[in-house]
Amino acid sequence: MAIERTLVLVKPDGVRRGLSGEIVARFEARGLKLRGARLTKISKAQAQKHYAEHKARPFFGELVEFITSGPVLALALEGESAILAVRTMMGATNPVNAAPGTIRGDFALLMGENIIHGSDSKESAKHELAIFFPDGLI
Ligand code: RTP
Ligand code: MG
Repeated sequence: MAIERTLVLVKPDGVRRGLSGEIVARFEARGLKLRGARLTKISKAQAQKHYAEHKARPFFGELVEFITSGPVLALALEGESAILAVRTMMGATNPVNAAPGTIRGDFALLMGENIIHGSDSKESAKHELAIFFPDGLI
């Protein structure tokens, strides 16, 4: 048990579909504190770095195209076990497998348009927060 900070991205499909407010509301209602929020466009170079673990996969090009196709809403969230709490609220990566009540389970159907990203470990949270909030958090 520990208070953690994590990075969430409402991906371009979520922003385009007007789901940003709904997603922020769910995290706030759960008790997670909003420590940062920024609407920003990810550059190609930044996207390639963000998804470096998938570089060898056949869908890498599509992934980079998609995440750079429009603005994303970057959120810094803080709370008890925030990294796991956020991942659980997001639902499975493939929305077809995501439980109803999760964000992907309620709003998405396609693997390539799964609405939301959340840091998957303490290390990635630290690294990703530094990328999207280089001036630190409030
Ligand atoms: P994310 O990084 O976006 O939060 O998603 P995640 O941790 O749940 O999933 P991850 O394994 O990190 O994959 C990143 C994104 O790549 C796309 N993907 N496509 N076609 C495929 O087999 C496949 N596998 C992953 C998904 O859009 C996923 O969100
Ligand atoms: Mg991931």
